[in-house]
Amino acid sequence: MKKRIALIPGDGIGPEIVDGAVKVLDALCDKFNHEFEYITVDAGGVAIDKYGEPLPKESLEKCLGSDSILLGAVGGKKWDTLPANLRPERALLALRKELNLFANIRPAVLKKQLNSASPLKNSVIGDGLDIVVVRELTGGIYFGDRKRESETAYDTERYSVAEIKRIAKVAFETARLRKRHVTSVDKANILASSQLWRDVVSDLHKDYPDVELNHMYVDNAAMQLVTRPSQFDVIVTSNMFGDILSDLSSAIAGSIGMLPSASLGDNTRGMYEPIHGSAPDIAGMDIANPIATIVSAAMMLEMSFGMTKEAKAINNAIDAVLDAGYRTADIYSEGTTKTGTVKMANLIAKEILK
Ligand code: IPM
Ligand code: MN
Repeated sequence: MKKRIALIPGDGIGPEIVDGAVKVLDALCDKFNHEFEYITVDAGGVAIDKYGEPLPKESLEKCLGSDSILLGAVGGKKWDTLPANLRPERALLALRKELNLFANIRPAVLKKQLNSASPLKNSVIGDGLDIVVVRELTGGIYFGDRKRESETAYDTERYSVAEIKRIAKVAFETARLRKRHVTSVDKANILASSQLWRDVVSDLHKDYPDVELNHMYVDNAAMQLVTRPSQFDVIVTSNMFGDILSDLSSAIAGSIGMLPSASLGDNTRGMYEPIHGSAPDIAGMDIANPIATIVSAAMMLEMSFGMTKEAKAINNAIDAVLDAGYRTADIYSEGTTKTGTVKMANLIAKEILK
């Protein structure tokens, strides 16, 4: 059956990078004889400008009626002065919550072609970097009680056993397909929610004797990531800690412009997006790196549609284009060929059709 993909270009560089991913998906359809139906959805700043709210009901409904969602990025300076509940970012949080996308999968891989793009010394990088951050996405301090008053303000970190269990399960299952090692990151020396987190993860671990588990405090995890990144395989952590550690991991992997993410719930509908933001300063200049969005599309094919060989074809095409020396500005180094957004996507699409 024809899969229906909701496209949310969003703001800033969002439309350019989503266009790039669609070009690659189109090539893939030619190659493998698939057909996708695309519906474009307004969310984020564009939706605020058009309809006065970041995620209009109609946009949410279009997403609910799709098989999967590919998102560019939302946000920008223009909307920064709006109150929190009207900002473009609200669209993301609402989509995550409404679609029950509790598991955010953020792989951070340093490709061999980009070794020199990592800020870490070669001696620290060692055998390279290949980790997956599994971030809880619909709970914790992002969604807890909060209040701002004139002299005080508070936010609440709250987790239930069920919420911790389901995300830990995703981490253990992910580890089974990799190096069978999970590091659970918390702040159990201080936070009650982290103490519960640690107990629940340890308890569930009994069902996964083939997977190794260790616990780490988040401050130490940040330090370990930049001093000995090769010790990690799968990191599982709360919404807030996962937000922070995934940015850190992406920087180690050379460029935030390379890294994809998948947000999944308990059915096959997922939301796929690059982990970077809308980069309004370079919007419309044809210099943004479309690779993170293209890899996100590959994750969608694999994780939502079960199209493993198609996803592989995309990743192989990206490798071939990088091997041939093409680089967008964020990953450019001497001796390589500087390439714009459109050209990079075209090269990858062409490679697929070879
Ligand atoms: C991310 C982003 C979002 C988050 C923002 C834009 C709400 O930083 O997806 O990591 O904090 O989750
Ligand atoms: Mn983030």
